[in-house]
Amino acid sequence: MKNNINKRDKDFKNIFKQSRGIEKILRLELKKIRKDSLLYINYPFCSNFCNFCIYKPCLYNQFNSDEFLKYYNKEILLYADILNGFKFKNVHIGGGTPNLVSPELLIKPLEKLVDFNNLERFIVEILPCDDFESYLEELKKYNVTKIQLGVQTLNDNILKQENRRTSRKVILDCLKTLAESDFIWSVDLMYGFRNELLYCNNRLNEFKQVLDFHPNGMHFYKLRAQQENNYYGKKIHRYSTYQKKIDLLYFEKILRKRGYQKVYDEWCLGKNIEHAKISVCYNGYSGAFPSILGLGLMAKSHLRFGLGMNFKRLRLYKFLLDANMIPMRIFHNFKKTNIYPVFNIYTGIKRLSRFNLGRFLDNNPLTKAEEKELESVFSLFKKNYINYTYDGDELKIPKAQFSKCLYLLENYMKSAYYFKK
Ligand SMILES: C[S@@+](CC[C@H](N)C(=O)[O-])C[C@H]1O[C@@H](n2cnc3c(N)ncnc32)[C@H](O)[C@@H]1O
Ligand code: SF4
Repeated sequence: MKNNINKRDKDFKNIFKQSRGIEKILRLELKKIRKDSLLYINYPFCSNFCNFCIYKPCLYNQFNSDEFLKYYNKEILLYADILNGFKFKNVHIGGGTPNLVSPELLIKPLEKLVDFNNLERFIVEILPCDDFESYLEELKKYNVTKIQLGVQTLNDNILKQENRRTSRKVILDCLKTLAESDFIWSVDLMYGFRNELLYCNNRLNEFKQVLDFHPNGMHFYKLRAQQENNYYGKKIHRYSTYQKKIDLLYFEKILRKRGYQKVYDEWCLGKNIEHAKISVCYNGYSGAFPSILGLGLMAKSHLRFGLGMNFKRLRLYKFLLDANMIPMRIFHNFKKTNIYPVFNIYTGIKRLSRFNLGRFLDNNPLTKAEEKELESVFSLFKKNYINYTYDGDELKIPKAQFSKCLYLLENYMKSAYYFKK
């Protein structure tokens, strides 16, 4: 017993030390939070264990959920203090299953970080449930703009096989309620279930049935077999090959015929076409990836030059928040670590005519791999393939993931800018 306590103390000491380092860099990164930044809330509990789920939610129980919410409130206060009055206009609540807890407890506390009367986009993910109508009424108080309903399938056999605690009847009732509501709403549908071929015709019929409710949006998910779920390793070792076999072209053709347009990864109709242009990971207006600040157990944050992940274990999340520290387990600071792959850079317009890569590299010692990567990005600049803006302070490259590479480019731009002045 004594040993355990010592070991725990030592673990905590290490976590504490590591987190102090993370904290310093993070506070600097957070100063770069901008208007288009997004607040992501991860409510980590769920009462299902779907075979296909890759999100590893924690099994819901009232005690742990209450304990989590107590500390989630502390996390909100901590960021409210760091961000000094900044209010997010874009919010996304996912999980887990956020509708297991009342909006009063999960959403209201966010008023310190969100101005509910001045929102561009506020999405909540919901698992179909019995008390759906009253839950939606509650959401209205906070001006939620869009509902994302996790339908996956209407087939009771598949729902049962996948351990989903909902049914065709419950889902149809939810669809009817949504169709009669003022919300923008969309459904998640999943393809690639085990034994799905047995129900092949049903899947087309159920798709048409969902469409008859006129959802504003549809996300198609091709089932990924990953280590985290029960599909991995059971004859399916390479999920990309497995996914390639799932053909949704016919479904997409039907959507097109009915006037749906694809925005990023969602098929959209009506007012959702504009709404979906600001998604969790991509801003279709500015063309850029916004910064994402994640709150809650396991929430991911994607800041300008770094990628972070909150603790999964409640014990550690509590431990850091009790010490008034950001409860992040990892923070990859791209300025310090390897270059994060810059794989999302597409064609652009402007030309960077004058630069000397050799001289630049002299002042920024890099590993061979980093050099190679930087060289290829510079060559994209030179060949006029990158659309960027630079205002003397911040370099913005649409459709580019944040990375050390961008950080170096930004430094280069800064030196060139001041040299010119
Ligand atoms: C966090 S879950 C949704 C919220 C809610 N708990 C539900 O299940 O309805 C977000 C979406 O991820 C998708 N998803 C989950 N596991 C997946 C997998 N293995 N492959 C592809 N998509 C997956 C599902 O379509 C799901 O609706
Ligand atoms: S898919 Fe949704 S309902 Fe199923 S286990 Fe994952 S989070 Fe829970």
